[in-house]
Amino acid sequence: MDSQQRVRWLWLRTLILTAVVAIVGGKARASPTAAGGGGSGFGLENSLLSEERRQNEAVFRFYENVLDILQCRVPEEQQIINARQADGGDAHLAARQPVQDQNWKSPRGLGQISGVSVDPQGRPVVFHRGDHVWDYHAFDSRHRYRRAKAGPIAANTVLTLNPASGEIEDGWASETFYMPHGVHVDTWGNYWLTDVALHQVFKYPRRERFGMGELEPSLVLGERFVPGSDGQHFCQPTAVAVMPETGEIVIADGYCNDRILVLDPQGKMIGQLPPKGNEDYLRLSVPHSLTIMKRGDICVADREHQRIVCFNLARALRPQESSNKEQIMLPWLPLTVHRPGVCRIFGVTSHDDMLYAVNGPTTSNNPVMGFTLNPDSKSILSTWGPTFDSFSNPHEIAACPNGTALYVSEIGPNIVWKFRLLTNWKM
Ligand SMILES: *[C@@H]1O[C@H](CO)[C@@H](O)[C@H](O)[C@H]1NC(C)=O
Repeated sequence: MDSQQRVRWLWLRTLILTAVVAIVGGKARASPTAAGGGGSGFGLENSLLSEERRQNEAVFRFYENVLDILQCRVPEEQQIINARQADGGDAHLAARQPVQDQNWKSPRGLGQISGVSVDPQGRPVVFHRGDHVWDYHAFDSRHRYRRAKAGPIAANTVLTLNPASGEIEDGWASETFYMPHGVHVDTWGNYWLTDVALHQVFKYPRRERFGMGELEPSLVLGERFVPGSDGQHFCQPTAVAVMPETGEIVIADGYCNDRILVLDPQGKMIGQLPPKGNEDYLRLSVPHSLTIMKRGDICVADREHQRIVCFNLARALRPQESSNKEQIMLPWLPLTVHRPGVCRIFGVTSHDDMLYAVNGPTTSNNPVMGFTLNPDSKSILSTWGPTFDSFSNPHEIAACPNGTALYVSEIGPNIVWKFRLLTNWKM
């Protein structure tokens, strides 16, 4: 077969498979419960079974991707209208409408602004890549960073901005990071940063005052430049969130491991999602962003699955009888928000138990925009974006703790948008 024929054959096969998947896939999707795990078999039978399961899984993943692309093309408008009608008044009160703040000026001259968070004082904090760019050649096929010898980013990579004007008020973390990804400022004011080239997660203590120069991290997780999938290694970790009262550390890991890890405040592993030994239960595909809702649920932007997955830590974690063992994460009822037309979700944040998310380019021409979602009705309450402009490659979103503002960062053009969250907004 020449290459043209091959492409045609591939397309034909994809079309046929897609038709089959459209019929069968819906059913498979509806029941994400574990198929295996409780088998009666002997060792050999189990290994044969698991080989078969691995193959099935690969096929299933392929179908799932096809389905997701199709989902992205389905317009959601009718459903938005239905949701607005069905939701009644209560949801409208809680959901605030993001409207672009025209007084805000994004700082200029930054690299890809991969991360944004808001500190306890309400100041936006961004994490950017300076002159480093994540392109096709940045990593080898085993996720190892190729440009370590070229050194870290010389510029200050963590910047605190004035919430009213966007001016840079503080900057640090120069000569430290190689490929910044996520930033999270916890309720105590500590900074949590992930670097996908270093494959590490860093905690930096709260800055007592601005302009105090470089800080030393107070906790470093993972091995420098070494990807891995065990308890001591990460692979391109994307995001961190810290439980506001109890301090458990939640890590999205990341581009290659497709898992969420839960650590105690000292950094000791206590659980993971999908639950260990129950990997089929709720598979993720590039968990990319995290938020913790007011009621304590953790929500994950499951990017390539084009959905948001939420779970309750207290309900998911069960301590083992004997202490100093890992706690186990049991199957629980996950909440998934998966709506046609939303496409790949890059960033998610929350305020008052409402979710705010940004999507990104998925098909050749899907609209790139913000979404306000009600996790309980699993509906889209509104879509939004810049007033006289549009998003190009939004990457992360963060809400001000007092619920008055949202910030969206982009990775090309490299800008930060500010939105006011207006309450008296009529649908
Ligand atoms: C919310 O936080 C911002 C940023 O700190 C502050 O400017 C604003 O006054 C606060 N608004 C309310 C209503 O507390």
